[in-house]
Amino acid sequence: MSTYSGMNATSGVNTICDFRSDTITRPDVAMREAMASAVVGDDVYGDDPTVNHLEERLADMLGKEAAVFFPTGTQSNLAAIMAHCGRGDEIIVGNEYHTFCDEAAGASVLAGISLNPVKTEMGGEVSPDSIAAAIKEDDPHYARSRLLCLENTVSGRAIPIQTINTSAKVAKDAGLSVHLDGARFFNAITALKCSPKELADCADSISLCMSKGLGTPVGSVLVGSHALTAQARRNRKILGGSMRQSGILAAAALYALDHNIETLVQDHNRAERLANALTTLDVGAVVHNSNMVFFTPAPEHHKTLYAHMAKTGVVIGGQSPTIRMVMHRDISDDALDLAIQSFQSYYA
Ligand SMILES: Cc1ncc(COP(=O)(O)O)c(C=O)c1O
Repeated sequence: MSTYSGMNATSGVNTICDFRSDTITRPDVAMREAMASAVVGDDVYGDDPTVNHLEERLADMLGKEAAVFFPTGTQSNLAAIMAHCGRGDEIIVGNEYHTFCDEAAGASVLAGISLNPVKTEMGGEVSPDSIAAAIKEDDPHYARSRLLCLENTVSGRAIPIQTINTSAKVAKDAGLSVHLDGARFFNAITALKCSPKELADCADSISLCMSKGLGTPVGSVLVGSHALTAQARRNRKILGGSMRQSGILAAAALYALDHNIETLVQDHNRAERLANALTTLDVGAVVHNSNMVFFTPAPEHHKTLYAHMAKTGVVIGGQSPTIRMVMHRDISDDALDLAIQSFQSYYA
């Protein structure tokens, strides 16, 4: 056994199931076999056939011209934002969206792009009125409004096609481009029961994460026009994200596209089952959005609840006051049963 193979990431806890995020999934045997047998080349020379195949496949699936494979969703979003905007431009973005809250203001720090946050509505969308009000007139006093950044799903909430199209239209009519952070794009189309193209239609560029619900260890793909993705590829180089024999990682993504999209509905169903079980307990308000469940227990229960769950091998996130539980490929029905039993024994 190697130094690392026996290590448990949540040290001190004998983890049986981990609900903190869908990013924690580990590649299964079949995915590892696909990775091991990948045909590879140097992708910086454009020579990796597996990366090229992944990029072509996703561009085609979403009805766009081209795609670029990135190490992370954060870098894919940033490279896209930098491709759409120059220094002194601004993006309009939901104030709860990852590109605003959780990407260390990279667009400002590295590219001189200002972030203009607008209210995120209850359904996860940004309203046409907020967008219209945020778009600045062309005046030398102001940053140039250049890009609307959307997200779907937003904390698990799948924004309906018509709603997201209406938001995007306001921006497009004013001459802005639209970028969609689709870290959980496939959860969104699963929940909305629509095709990839139907959702992708709202945006000029879309960033898709392979390493969340789809279960790969690494990787995101940006899709868009030839011109946009060419600039994003250059930005990837600037950001240090160009990889060499990355076909090993692209093979995991191709495997996931073949096998792991259709099983996302099971994650959503399990989230619903968990939400139904929690509503029978004294855990406060319970909300279920696609593969995520949120609840807000009384403050005095937080520490004791975590400790109780951990003792039974169930890891839940450390957020307060609202706890998020995320279903993913490593949560089986048995794991979910165990978690529900742990909650029931705590609140008995
Ligand atoms: C909505 C959303 N966008 C983007 C990202 C960034 O992905 P990565 O962690 O690969 O940088 C995340 C990560 O959790 C996310 O949840």
